[in-house]
Order: sequence, then structure tokens, then C-alpha cells
Amino acid sequence: MSVHQSRPHDSGPLHVTGEARYTDDLPSTGRALHLAFGLAPIAHGRVRVDLAPVRAMPGVALVLGPEDFAEMPDVSPSPRPEPLLSDGEVQFHGQPLFLVAATSHRAARIAARAAEIEIVEERTPRITIADARAALDASDDPLAEGLLLEPPLEWEKGDADTALAAAPHRIKGAIEIGGQEHFYLEGQAAMAVPGDGSEMVIHASTQHPTEIQHKVAHALHVSQAQVQVQVRRMGGGFGGKESQGNALAVACALVAKRTGLTARMRYDRDDDMMLTGKRHDFVIEYEAGFDDEGRLASVIFDQYTRCGWAPDLSAPVADRAMLHADNAYHLPAARIRSTRLMTHTCSNTAFRGFGGPQGMVGIERVIEHVAAHLNRDPLEVRRANLYASGAQGQTTPYGMEVEDSIAPDLVAKLAEDAGYAARRAEIAAFNDSSPILKRGLALTPVKFGISFTLTQLNQAGALVHVYTDGSIRLNHGGTEMGQGLFTKVAAVAADIFGQPQDAVRITATDTAKVPNTSATAASSGSDLNGMAVKAACETIRARMAEHLATARVIWHARDDAGEALIDRDGKPEVCEHAFDCAPEDITFANGTVGTADHRIPFADAVQACYAARVSLSSTGFYATPKLAWDRTQRSGPRRPFYYFAYGAAVTEVALDTLTGENRILRTDILHDCGRSLNPALDIGQIEGGYVQGAGWLTMEELVWNPKGALATHAPATYKIPGCSDRPRVFNVALWDGENAEDTIHKSKAVGEPPLMLGISALMALQDAVRAAGSDALIDAPATPERLVEALDGTA
Ligand code: MTE
Ligand code: MOS
Repeated sequence: MSVHQSRPHDSGPLHVTGEARYTDDLPSTGRALHLAFGLAPIAHGRVRVDLAPVRAMPGVALVLGPEDFAEMPDVSPSPRPEPLLSDGEVQFHGQPLFLVAATSHRAARIAARAAEIEIVEERTPRITIADARAALDASDDPLAEGLLLEPPLEWEKGDADTALAAAPHRIKGAIEIGGQEHFYLEGQAAMAVPGDGSEMVIHASTQHPTEIQHKVAHALHVSQAQVQVQVRRMGGGFGGKESQGNALAVACALVAKRTGLTARMRYDRDDDMMLTGKRHDFVIEYEAGFDDEGRLASVIFDQYTRCGWAPDLSAPVADRAMLHADNAYHLPAARIRSTRLMTHTCSNTAFRGFGGPQGMVGIERVIEHVAAHLNRDPLEVRRANLYASGAQGQTTPYGMEVEDSIAPDLVAKLAEDAGYAARRAEIAAFNDSSPILKRGLALTPVKFGISFTLTQLNQAGALVHVYTDGSIRLNHGGTEMGQGLFTKVAAVAADIFGQPQDAVRITATDTAKVPNTSATAASSGSDLNGMAVKAACETIRARMAEHLATARVIWHARDDAGEALIDRDGKPEVCEHAFDCAPEDITFANGTVGTADHRIPFADAVQACYAARVSLSSTGFYATPKLAWDRTQRSGPRRPFYYFAYGAAVTEVALDTLTGENRILRTDILHDCGRSLNPALDIGQIEGGYVQGAGWLTMEELVWNPKGALATHAPATYKIPGCSDRPRVFNVALWDGENAEDTIHKSKAVGEPPLMLGISALMALQDAVRAAGSDALIDAPATPERLVEALDGTA
């Protein structure tokens, strides 16, 4: 068996030797042009652009401004259009105003700076959530004025006001949660190669090849069948390549069409950081009512989120924040309201967790506040509120019954394994004797819903070929961004044919092979594509078994090296055998095919089937069952998620109360991957997700200057966790269990949920702040500056 085994990422050796090819490494066919955007120098207002100086720059082949299009190409992932280029009305600092194609990347970038841009009118931009809320308060018609993406959404479970009023204790507060730059190591990149007639081939660093296909077809006024999009791999996506690659691919396609040449584009890191959307930042206001044990009776959340200038994926992101406002806690009564604010900043987008993490930070803050109010250990309050184990009829605030909770057992096991109680006492003793350095400890749980909340996206296709030498070529709709999807899915295919995993050749994702795919997102890559591949492989295996069981099986004998053996007459030596059994008696295992009595090598079985004209290629398809959800409907069946993935983390930090500097000393994680498809890859996802989540909440800070320019647009000013920031002691264990639902080999999705384990790092800092004698509840990111502020007045 290949599944459930720890196996390295199939591209591991290529990654570490630098030989793995990314989009910008692909060689050009023929002469190529390189593209760059000219960017808006203001955040909001009107500009007039003179492109004549750009056209006169050395190496420039083509310059396209808004007047060069009868209809502005649309690069939006949502039904509402998002123009490729501004028409002179500027919506954010760095918005593309025009497009330059030149003979080199450098020439294009230099030329893009040569435009004469006249600022006709500069208006005050709405940059922060506070700016947007002030404008909202002053407006009579916020939708018409473009202040909101859509009317605020509100869901209520029970009567939240009455339950709040009746509760013995009440608290009220707010938390600010910052955004996050994706910082994929490979930046956005695309290449367009003109094909026969009006055909176009696109290579792109994208999680969503099908959407690129649609956008390019629309921009070129050709059918989808004339556009082919290929992606071998990305050097990280993290949600930042769900929609943000559309602009580059469309720009390349337009230039390739007009010039007949290959067109390629990549953003420089600074441009990438300024132009592309980020994790949505939030302000969450809350009220909660609870009893003496901290059991919540009612929670009311008011979530405000910064969408940026265009719709992008903000509606489903904000929905997912609402859908995770409960995290792993049963709320008897709740009201969640969500206001989606439009601002003059880059258009925020998908980022690992897709709004879920922000929603969960809201309730985790409530728990911390409750614990502080009652002077209890936050872990006691958490445990008092977890969804009970199994199906107990408890429902989420959006009306879905939680049937698969393992939260209490998982939290209990982790607390035990990590020695929570003993360490709590040790840390208290340490803090008593340490005036400057304070330690903090926190355990937080994760419950994350698996499925796209737009039900139609929960489908996948695959195309599998078996060749006569026994090798297997695998295509499916998922994309590889480093998460190990291809390696997991190849194991599924290998097992069905009883072949070693290296017999399975994984190939680039290609819209010409598997059509109408969803983005590789919502952590559902292996769930969906694993099942589609399984279906395709099983179809081929059933055809082979059918033939082999009843026919006279004939094949060519081979030597150990696989070469055909030749008899004395110079003809291939023929072998034959009659299995004479039922198809279900034919098994595929250990590289052989046959019955208990007689087995032949897989390649020979394939050859025999080929000779008998049995089809050795098949598609496969999968659609997730049981889902029922419509974000606009308030009644009817309510199941946006097929199942939940669970996990929990304990983080211990040390905080220097004079400087706010801090370190993660130790992290213990227990995470639920169901029956893991590949424990090594899953542990990699858990470690990476945790560090990315902790980075988001404790050190990564986005700063826009008052005029709306992003000040943190390079690694020099934007701090992501480095190797030295990883926990000094890092224990990761997998929960021993299986998915209650019928997923691929009973596994669970693992891509996004571990990011939210990083919330424990924020809460451990909160604990250290409390230990230092401060009542302050901290916002995120808890940078040293913010921590020093929170400690002000202590010591
Ligand atoms: N892991 C790596 N190494 N690189 C990535 O870009 N993206 C994350 C997660 N893990 C990402 C990653 C995100 S946002 C998602 S949705 C999932 O992987 C997507 O892959 P999957 O559905 O195959 O898990
Ligand atoms: Mo992940 S944010 O769903 O690409």
C-alpha cells in the first residue's frame, strides 16, 4: 500500500536542487515580450496619462492604455466585473493604469516609469476600517455610494438579546485583527503562447486554471475551447493565487494575440505586495453572556471587514468568517452580523482559512475575556463550552448539526500529553520569581468546516491513462502549490493497480485534459481529486479484471529488465494463461495481477488487455454528497460542510516586558487528519500552517501610509517568521481516528485548518501580558510595540 505511508513530496529533490521548473523558468518559444504595468501614484482620484514617453523608451514593442480597448477586459473572480486597467478613475495606490510590452523584463519596468501622469484630482481615500466606518455612519445610501460590497448579512440562532440579558455575567469588547501578505516564495507569473489560428496556450502560477481559461477566452473574444491553461506547480499559493493571477494571464494573452509573440509577465516583489490582495483585516465587536463557570449563554458578534476596492472573493470570505464565529464552541444563542467595507486599498482575497481564522479569533478573544472576568484559567472556560463528542443534536449558529465532534477528547488528550496542568504551575512559579521576563501558556482548539460554501464548486474530474509498459499517467483538476496533493493522489492511483508509487507519472494540471475545474482551495484538493482519480482508476481496473477473468490471456515474455524475450525463430516469446475465474477474483497487488494460484506482472496484464482491445484510459468524476446550503436562504436544510477537521495546540511563550520582544518556547499540537493519506506530508502542513498562523497574529504587520500607499512592500519592512522563529520545541502528533464520512481512504483535509492552531501563540502572549499584571486585551498582530503598549502602567 502507498496510502497511509509517509512518503516524500514527489518534487522534493527538484525543489531542493533548484531544478523544479516554475512558470517563469519555462523557456520561451521564439521571440518573447516581457510585460509590466504602469501603476497609479495616488489611492483615490483622477489621473490623465501621457503614454508617448513610454512608447519612445528603448526596447518597447507595445503599450496599451484604456483607450486601446473597445471594452475593458475583466479579471474578476466574482460576477461583478473588475477592470484590468483603470480608466483614469483611481481606486487604490498601485492600480494598473497601462501595460507595457518590451524586449526584456527590465526594459518593460523602466519604460513603465516613463509615463507622464497628471493628477487631475486627488480625493481623500478611505484606507482603514475606521475610515470606512466613519464614511458609512455619515452616509444615507452606502450601497449607492459604493461604501459597502453588499448589504450587511445577519444570522441569528435563538433569541440572542433575551439570552444575553438573562445571563448572570456579561462582557462587551472589540478586537482588531490585521491582514496578512501571502509571501509565496514564487511571485505571480504568467506566459501566453499564441497557437494555431486563434488558439492560446497559457502557463500560469495559479490555483485556478479554469478561471484563467474563462477570463482569457472572454478577453480575446474566443470560445473556452480555444484556450488551454497549464500549471505544473506553484512556489506557494496560500489562496493568493486563486484570483490574483488573472490580471497577468489576461495581459499576456492580449499582448500575445496582438503581436503573435510569446508574452510573459512576472511582478517584482514590491509590485506583487502592492498590487495583489491580502488576508482581510477585521474589527470584531462582541457582547457575551455567561454563567459562573464561564459557560456561554449568548454571544453577539459584529464583524467589520476591509474588502478593498473590488469584490474579488470578499463575499465568500466574509461568509466563512461568520461560519466560524463559533469555532469549536456550542453557542446556545448567537447573532452574527457582517459588514463588508469597500476601501481604497488593494482588493483583499483568499488566504489560508478564507476568513475562518478571523471569525475564530473573535470567539477565542471572547473566551479570554470571560476567563479574565471570572479570574479562571482560559482552558477551563474553553472546555466548558466545546461541542460535545459525537452527535448530540448541538447545532452551529447557522443551523448545521455537529455530528462528528471529537473536540473534548482531543483537547483532553493534548492537555495531558503536553503536561498542561503541571506546566501551568511551573510557569506561575517562574513568573513569581521573574520580574522582567514573563511566560505565558495557552491551549486553543480548532474546528474547521470542509467544503466550498458555494455548493457547485464541490466537484472534481480526473483522466487516467495506463500505457502498455505498465506505467500510469495521472491528470486531475487539482494544482500543486507545495502542499503535496500530487503525491497523495498518486498513492491512491498506485494502490488501485497494485503498483509502486513511482509507476505513476504525475503531470501538469491542464484544462485541455480535465475541464471545468474548481480552484484548488478550501483544503478540498485531495478529498475531491483523490475521489475522482479513484473512480477513473477503478473503471480501468474493472475493465482489465473483466477481460482477464474470462479470456485466454496472451502476452509477451520479458526478462527481468523488462525487455521482450525472443524465441529461436526471432519472434517474441508468447505466454498464455486462462484464469477462468470471476472478475472479482482477479486482484492487483505487489506489481502483479491474477488469482491466488497464478499471477502475472502488471505490465503483462496491461499488454494482454491492449492486445484484446480493452480501453486503458478513463475519466473519473466526484461530487461531494450531503451538502445543502444557500447563503441567501434563511430556511431549509443547512449543511454547508461535509465534515469538520479538528485540532488543538498548546503554545508557551516568553515575553520581555521591557521591550515586548517574545519567543515561542514550545508548541504541542494534536491534529485530526482522519486516516492520514501521508503522515509526513500532513505533519509538514501542520507545522507550516501553525507557523504561518502564529506569524500572522504575532509579527506580520501591514502598514499603509495616510495617503494609502503600502509602506510594508518588501521583506525589509514586512516580517514573516524565519527559521529561528519556529518553536524551540515543536511536538506534532496526529489524532488516531478516521473520518466519520466516506472520504478518500477515510482521510481528512489538512491544508488550511492547522493555520488556526497559531491562535494559541496570540493567546499565550495574552496570558503573559496577564501574568505581568496588565488587564489589557491585546489586538493582532501582537507586535512588540503593541505588547509594550498593553503592558504600559505595569511593573
Ligand atoms: N501548503 C503549501 N506548501 N503551499 C501552499 O500554497 N496553500 C494552502 C494549503 N497548504 C498551501 C499549502 C491553502 S490556502 C489551501 S486551500 C490548501 O493547501 C490547498 O491544497 P489542498 O486542498 O490540496 O490541501
Ligand atoms: Mo485556500 S485560502 O482555500 O486557497
